[in-house]
Amino acid sequence: MTLISREVHLRSRPVGMPTLDNFELASVTVGEPGAGEVQVRNLWMTVDPAMRRWMDDVDVRSYAPRYQIGEVMSGGAIGEVVRSNDAAFQVGDLVMSELGWREAFTAPASALRKLNTLGLPPQMFLGVAGLTGFTAYLGLTKIAGLKPGDVVFVSGAAGAVGSVVCQIAKLMGHTVIGSAGGADKVAFLKEIGVDHVIDYKAVPDLTEALMAAAPDGIDVYYDNVGGEHLEAALAAARTFGRFAMCGAIAGYNLADGGAGIRGMRQVVGKQLRLQGFVVFSHLALMPEYLSQMVKWVESGQLKSRDTVEHGIENAPAAFLKLFTGGNLGKMLVKLD
Ligand SMILES: NC(=O)c1ccc[n+]([C@@H]2O[C@H](COP(=O)([O-])OP(=O)(O)OC[C@H]3O[C@@H](n4cnc5c(N)ncnc54)[C@H](OP(=O)(O)O)[C@@H]3O)[C@@H](O)[C@H]2O)c1
Repeated sequence: MTLISREVHLRSRPVGMPTLDNFELASVTVGEPGAGEVQVRNLWMTVDPAMRRWMDDVDVRSYAPRYQIGEVMSGGAIGEVVRSNDAAFQVGDLVMSELGWREAFTAPASALRKLNTLGLPPQMFLGVAGLTGFTAYLGLTKIAGLKPGDVVFVSGAAGAVGSVVCQIAKLMGHTVIGSAGGADKVAFLKEIGVDHVIDYKAVPDLTEALMAAAPDGIDVYYDNVGGEHLEAALAAARTFGRFAMCGAIAGYNLADGGAGIRGMRQVVGKQLRLQGFVVFSHLALMPEYLSQMVKWVESGQLKSRDTVEHGIENAPAAFLKLFTGGNLGKMLVKLD
């Protein structure tokens, strides 16, 4: 039986903010699985801010090549095995791969990982239960090294990583200040227990708003955004503050990547520690997170929130929404 898959190709490299014209939807025939190969129909795929950098003509991705013009894009996906010529995979198995941005594919079994959902909805493994949640846990507990009594500031707080950071910091007994854009996001952050919420799009001065929320300063800054948020955090930091530098989305569409952070001299005076990290360098700690996460989710203490777009044809638009704040929690595409 011939299987046709629609997939998204990179048509052109964006300059600044990407547009739908940078993407192209193509239909391809999925190859028959040979020996040791498996055919998969994708059910869910993720879109992530980091993919913006992979669209550029610079090799910033040490663990995989950048996207090539005219070729299918890649990214995390969850699918179901529909044919298998490998003993390790049976028809009906749920699998994770980096072969997203397409409806179906045939690949060597080595490109797949069987998904044990631990009784949770499979799509959670692209969010709270997967690398997204782990990134939050890692940055907070290992990179920033939370200490009792820390006041924690989180930017991008209503997004996929940020919303998990806020919840874990609250679970660990900390005062949490979250920044996000818009009334819906403010309401969501209050619902998940964030102590002080800043709508950064509505306040005249972000640094002043942060100082007002944390009159004695912040100890930990979880940075998803960079730019003005980082500047505000530098201004509000207490001596020996620790910054987990997770991402800098405010600069991803800027030609200079968001250079020119003001207030860096405070790093010395306040003896701050700013540490960048990439989740893939710390995967050995993932089991620790998973065992903790399952308990938190089952007890209702850690909530998963998704924004779901439907159909591969809407994947580019879903991706673009990451840069305009069009997602609450994890942005996912359901491949109906
Ligand atoms: N280091 C790692 O290993 C690692 C792993 C995963 C993700 N990350 C990084 O973590 C960050 C969050 O990723 P995510 O997947 O959780 O995405 P996300 O937060 O779910 O989505 C992006 C959010 O960023 C905010 N945003 C976009 N442009 C902005 C701007 N100019 N200024 C302020 N906020 C802006 C928007 O929220 P608002 O509506 O609030 O503006 C948007 O909803 C990204 O920087 C990403 O690159 C790093």
